[in-house]
Amino acid sequence: MDHALIVYVNQTGPVIERDIYGHFSEHLGRCIYGGIWVGKDSPIPNINGYRKDLVEALKRIRIPNLRWPGGCFADEYHWMDGIGPQETRKRMVNTHWGGVVEDNSFGTHEFMDLCELLDCKAYVNGNVGSGSVQEMQEWVEYMTFDGDSPMARLRAKNGREKPWKLPYFGVGNENWGCGGNMTPQQYALEYRRYQTYVRNYGGNTIYKIACGANVADYAWTETLMKEAGRFMDGLSLHNYTFELDWDHKGSATEFDENNWYTTLRNACGMDGLITNHERIMDTWDPGKRIGMIVDEWGCWHKVEPGTNPGFLYQQNTLRDALVAGIVLNVFNNHAERVRMANLAQLVNVLQSPILTEGPDMVLTPTWHVFDLYKEHQGARLLATGLATAEYRPAAKSEAAAKDKKGIPAVSASASCSDDGTVTVTLTNANPSENARVPLSLSGSAKQYRVSSAEVLSADRMNVHNDFVNPRALVPVPLSVPSVRDNSIDLVLPPMSVACIRFLV
Ligand code: AHR
Repeated sequence: MDHALIVYVNQTGPVIERDIYGHFSEHLGRCIYGGIWVGKDSPIPNINGYRKDLVEALKRIRIPNLRWPGGCFADEYHWMDGIGPQETRKRMVNTHWGGVVEDNSFGTHEFMDLCELLDCKAYVNGNVGSGSVQEMQEWVEYMTFDGDSPMARLRAKNGREKPWKLPYFGVGNENWGCGGNMTPQQYALEYRRYQTYVRNYGGNTIYKIACGANVADYAWTETLMKEAGRFMDGLSLHNYTFELDWDHKGSATEFDENNWYTTLRNACGMDGLITNHERIMDTWDPGKRIGMIVDEWGCWHKVEPGTNPGFLYQQNTLRDALVAGIVLNVFNNHAERVRMANLAQLVNVLQSPILTEGPDMVLTPTWHVFDLYKEHQGARLLATGLATAEYRPAAKSEAAAKDKKGIPAVSASASCSDDGTVTVTLTNANPSENARVPLSLSGSAKQYRVSSAEVLSADRMNVHNDFVNPRALVPVPLSVPSVRDNSIDLVLPPMSVACIRFLV
């Protein structure tokens, strides 16, 4: 037997925070303008300027939180430029992303109102790199102060009497790079100073997130935990999935099995990376008070031919769906420490769940994975035991084979909702072989039955949804035999992401 999965239904772990299924929207390419915001006078159907189709699609996957305004843009953003009458707002050059002129017509009011419309939590990222402490303090006052203060008056003058809820605030972004090229010691000191003035006003309590490491920069995590741990609630981590590495990105749609394998191998690397950062966090915070916030993750491919290289627009195939399925299983299984994650990015940028073109919208395979996995949100993690064979592509020579270490063919995670429903999500990375996975629900005398079983799969690894064929890849029912003695013989098709739900 190549694979087997035991789900211990009586061994519940931590809650899988809904926020693990969060998203990220930056002033980058067509994410904000065209993707989210078309303006109230647009012929594209909208709700107060927000695309109606996008709002509905995000509600369907129960978007729990949204991060804004960056990314690298955050440390260049001066929030006062984005308030007041839209026509008179100050313009700026978006130097990071294509050098285009940003007219600031989407600002604090537009973002915070969007979060209310989506019924999701706002995660605002402040400017440490080029902003002042005062600017950050006043922004938080502007958004949340509930009495009579200069910033609350300004907010009211701009049309919003009531403060908004601001649950999450990031103190800088990638301050080791685009956010000021700081050393960890330098940023730790800056973080301590800036966060002091990120105040809780009235009933609003802010969860403060410090800028964390770039991929495997463990020294950054160590220094931040040591020097500033007691001043933070969360520490971020950024890790993108490349076909090979930053310097060797591949096409989003034109790739072979070797590229498929290297991409999924990199996605699997998220597990070890989180484990290593966790170990460091555990030494400074054994009680696990501080959350790991993976607020940028996803595939980073070459841009679509003919598009602005600074706009990071890429297609999204079954391979991206596998990456999402594998990584979300990793996050679920690390729910004790990983409290939030934000896919980069929400629409038209990097691994987007949604693509738009004028009035048209496409739900990508990645959107479908978020839809398949949504029942994990807020459920309790269940202990699992997974045995799986390795997958690696055939190598032409022994030397080449050495380069190709096997990756787990199957990944899985399981959770139990308040109503007792058990949700199991699985992926099969092997592009040519079924994975037969005998699955047993152990530890309960109750008899379970399958309440739903769906799978996202295709016969070609680069299948994707586009504006001509928006439903080329959508989940279909997965045929499963009936449950016997709380066991089931599951067969996952090659290259698939599946969700099976069990009820008593
Ligand atoms: O998501 C695109 C960019 O990647 C972000 O702006 C930055 O934080 C990261 O390097």
